[in-house]
Amino acid sequence: MATKINAYRATIFHIHREPLGENDHRAYDFFEDGLLVTDHAHVLYAGDYSELKHTLPLGCTIHDRTGMIIMPGLIDTHVHYPQTDIIASHGKQLMDWLETYTFPCEKQFEDAGHSRQTAVFFIQELLKNGTTTAMVLGTVHAVSVQALFEKADDYTMRLVAGKVMMDRLAPHYLRDTAQSSYDESKHLIEHWHHKNRLTYAVTPRFALTSSEEQLDAAGALIREFNDVRLHTHLAENTKEVDLIAKAFPWSTGYLDVYNHFGLVCDRSVFAHCIYLSDTEFKLMKEKAASVSLCPTSNLFLGSGLFDLGKIMTYEIKTGLGSDVGGGTSFSMFKTMAEAYKVCQLKGVTLSPVQSFYYASLGAAKTLGLDQVIGNFEPGKEADFIVINPDQIPLLKRRISMAQRPEEILFALMILGDDRMIYETYVNGVKIPPLT
Ligand code: GUN
Ligand code: ZN
Repeated sequence: MATKINAYRATIFHIHREPLGENDHRAYDFFEDGLLVTDHAHVLYAGDYSELKHTLPLGCTIHDRTGMIIMPGLIDTHVHYPQTDIIASHGKQLMDWLETYTFPCEKQFEDAGHSRQTAVFFIQELLKNGTTTAMVLGTVHAVSVQALFEKADDYTMRLVAGKVMMDRLAPHYLRDTAQSSYDESKHLIEHWHHKNRLTYAVTPRFALTSSEEQLDAAGALIREFNDVRLHTHLAENTKEVDLIAKAFPWSTGYLDVYNHFGLVCDRSVFAHCIYLSDTEFKLMKEKAASVSLCPTSNLFLGSGLFDLGKIMTYEIKTGLGSDVGGGTSFSMFKTMAEAYKVCQLKGVTLSPVQSFYYASLGAAKTLGLDQVIGNFEPGKEADFIVINPDQIPLLKRRISMAQRPEEILFALMILGDDRMIYETYVNGVKIPPLT
């Protein structure tokens, strides 16, 4: 196949590494008049338009997006696709919310047709919000994950997903067994893991809904398949933490339960992590495990305020998660805005570059994908978004007052949403307009 080189002229923003404090301008590039050059599905290079314009090969197509901002596609590190239809469900906290809204909704995913139809809507919702990769929970039904992988693969999307493992403390209609969850997860891994851009995450829902036998089975899968991920919830809600202590009286804490079954390792992503001790954060660091912070969910479900200061002190790999449907928006911009506000309440000032790091390169690190996505290093996969701030009048007005790149980035994360996503590119291909 003839190679197809495309060049996109716009303001180009991407991050090279985790910022070392607020004024670490070397951590990122912000080319006001920049150029992103792609070769079929990969990034060739990014830089200043004036420096690069003479290097473009003959036959290269130039796409003029002057006045717009191009950045890497954003990454959602924790989201439940089956919960798309229970977003904005009123009045409950975690345990009651699961029982009242979540479990009945998840029952419908025993049906392949329902799973496919929801998967299509979900993926389109991600893409139109500028999210090009996500780590996703299905339901207990293998068919739900099958449908999601099929639909993600239609877009050649990078997606990490897994079947929920859940064999107790849930309605009978939503339970598997230790053995069936092992068998079905293994079957899905064999079929989907590394198929095109898809990868698998072993997904015990949380320790409360798994027997010790099932947690053991999850550990066996992690040992057997040495590059699948581990994805679960941890220390989100005080009632949940109390129930964990009762359910696992031998444990020294919530993380200790997962650790006991070999589930804390450099491939683990733990959503929430609000109620952890220093010992637990220390263990996470030692094991090189990751956290996914889900601010819109934590506020909506009244779960609590995460302590980013502590997570940063322990230098734990961190990403942001929408946690839809506990979370209230698919937009990673809105997720960044709420993360900022949670941090304000905890006396921590979250910088805009750090926020975008958690939604791009930092998130890619939590998923073990930083060698292939997360920024515009040459050779990385060409997942990117084109933002037109003019599509939101207030944002346009605020940005016209901005003096520095950080001010523009901050305005985007506080005022931005899906209205400003002009185009989304996955693997070098523009996604057709979505309704
Ligand atoms: N903990 C266990 N299951 C869930 C879930 O579906 N959503 C959230 N936010 N927390 C959970
Ligand atoms: Zn969740």
